[in-house]
Amino acid sequence: MKGIILAGGLGSRLYPLTYATNKHLLPIYDRPMVFYPIQTLVNAGITEIMIVVGGPHAGHFMGVLKNGVELGIKHLEFAFQDTVDHNKKKIEGGISHALSLCENFADNSSVAVILGDNTTDTDMSGAVKNFKDGAMIFLKKVSDPNRYGVPVFDGNHKISSIEEKPREPKSDYAVTGLYLYDNTVFSRIKTLKPSSRGELEITDLNNSYIKDGKLAWTELSGFWTDAGTYDSLFVANEYWAKKHL
Ligand code: G1P
Repeated sequence: MKGIILAGGLGSRLYPLTYATNKHLLPIYDRPMVFYPIQTLVNAGITEIMIVVGGPHAGHFMGVLKNGVELGIKHLEFAFQDTVDHNKKKIEGGISHALSLCENFADNSSVAVILGDNTTDTDMSGAVKNFKDGAMIFLKKVSDPNRYGVPVFDGNHKISSIEEKPREPKSDYAVTGLYLYDNTVFSRIKTLKPSSRGELEITDLNNSYIKDGKLAWTELSGFWTDAGTYDSLFVANEYWAKKHL
């Protein structure tokens, strides 16, 4: 399985911090944010990694990661996610758009995808080893599900759909930014339509697997947070500072 980290975007929710560099290079205690998802992949035995970067500070990644060897990466590639046109404006194309740039890199393999602002100490290696086809997502109980993709369950504890940032969440689970996909992911992305904000959404991609009865889920064990807002960035810093001290 190959690894993909999605680290594009402008990080506008973190302005003015992200005027100076890309969100995923901001510190979480003693290391840049992007080190954490890299470590999660490497710990799961995934050492061929593509990082999708974007925005005005994309060049900073190479200065920080170099060839990735010090982090246990054997093969590191970068892709640049450009803006797309939406209602005569240039906007970020969304998470599924970023993932579509990795088709050649994946080269018919399955992929483990992590959003670059997600940090976790979970061990994905079992899920990676047992993965056959379809998609696998990792859920975490949260107190503020309306910030995330939220699963809707049917009577048999199967997910019948996922709603992106619903006003009235139908469960108290967040869909975390860790995903395993088989290689049909790239043809599925080609069928997605931009959402009202003009992005190709990861939730629409997951819903396409659900429609085909091909999405499995598990509850993520251990700590998880994203770090895309001041509050969650602080929570991540606090947790990792205590763990690394
Ligand atoms: C994205 C996804 C959302 C997911 C979240 C996890 O949201 O769209 O489904 O739950 O990541 O971090 P974002 O944080 O980019 O708004």
